[in-house]
Amino acid sequence: MTSSIEPKTFLVFGATGQTGQHFTSLALQAGHRVRALARTPSKLSSEHPNLDVRKGSVSDANSGVDLDDLVGGTDVVVSMLGDVEMQRERKVNTEFVQRLVPAMRRNGVKRFLYQAGGLSKAPGRPLSPALWAIRKTIARGYDGQHRDNEAVMEYLTDEAPDIEWMVHRAGIGSNGESKGVLERSTRRPSIGTFADCAAYNLRTVMDAAAIHTCDFSMYRKA
Ligand SMILES: NC(=O)c1ccc[n+]([C@@H]2O[C@H](COP(=O)([O-])OP(=O)(O)OC[C@H]3O[C@@H](n4cnc5c(N)ncnc54)[C@H](OP(=O)(O)O)[C@@H]3O)[C@@H](O)[C@H]2O)c1
Repeated sequence: MTSSIEPKTFLVFGATGQTGQHFTSLALQAGHRVRALARTPSKLSSEHPNLDVRKGSVSDANSGVDLDDLVGGTDVVVSMLGDVEMQRERKVNTEFVQRLVPAMRRNGVKRFLYQAGGLSKAPGRPLSPALWAIRKTIARGYDGQHRDNEAVMEYLTDEAPDIEWMVHRAGIGSNGESKGVLERSTRRPSIGTFADCAAYNLRTVMDAAAIHTCDFSMYRKA
C-alpha cells in the first residue's frame, strides 16, 4: 500500500521545547523531514535519518546563523519559540520573525505557522474579559510573552500578506495524555496538552483554510 502523505521538509524553531519536541516526533513519524535550529542540539536525542539539527540562536542577529541557508530547500516553517525571561525585556520573537519572513521570501517558502498563547490578543479582536482576568492575575508572569506574540501577529497581518501564515493561539495546561483532537476555534481556547497542540500544529499548517487566521484551538466534541 502506498502512503497518502506527501513528505515535506519542515523548518522547526523551538524543536527542543515542550510543544516542539512532540511536533518534531510527530512530523518524523508521519514521514516528513525536519530541519531544526537549536541552541543546545543535544536536547534532541533522536538520531532519525530525516532529522537535521543545526546549532544556533534566534535572538542574536549577529550569531552567525545564515537564515537563507536554514530556510532554503524547506517547504514549511513552524515556530514554537518561547523564552519567558527574555521576552519580559525584549520582543525577541518579533525581531526574529521580522528577519525570518524576508528570508522566506528570498527562498520562495510561503507556509508559516507561529504558536502564540490563548491569552495573546489577535489583531482587531478583543480578548474576552475572562481571558484578560487570567492574564492579569495568575498568568501575569507571561505578559511579556503575550505582548511579543501580539507584535508578531500585528507584523504578519500588516506586513506579510504574501506569506501563507497562520497563528495558533494555544491554551496548554499539561504534558499529560491526549485529551482528544483539537480544532480551530474563534470562541475560546481549550486547555490542551503539549502533544495535542503539536498534533494540531502539524494538521493545521497543511490546511489552506487556516491561512491568515489567528485562532484558538478547542477540543472536538465527542
Ligand atoms: N507553555 C505553555 O503553557 C504555553 C501555553 C500556551 C501557549 N504557549 C505558547 O507556545 C510557545 C511555545 O511554548 P512551549 O511551552 O512549547 O515552549 P518552551 O518549552 O518554553 O520551549 C521554547 C523553545 O524555544 C526555544 N528557544 C527559546 N529562545 C531561543 C533562542 N534564542 N534561539 C533558539 N531557540 C530558542 C527553546 O530552546 P531551548 O531548549 O534552547 O531553551 C525551546 O526549544 C510559547 O512561546 C507560548 O507563546 C505556551
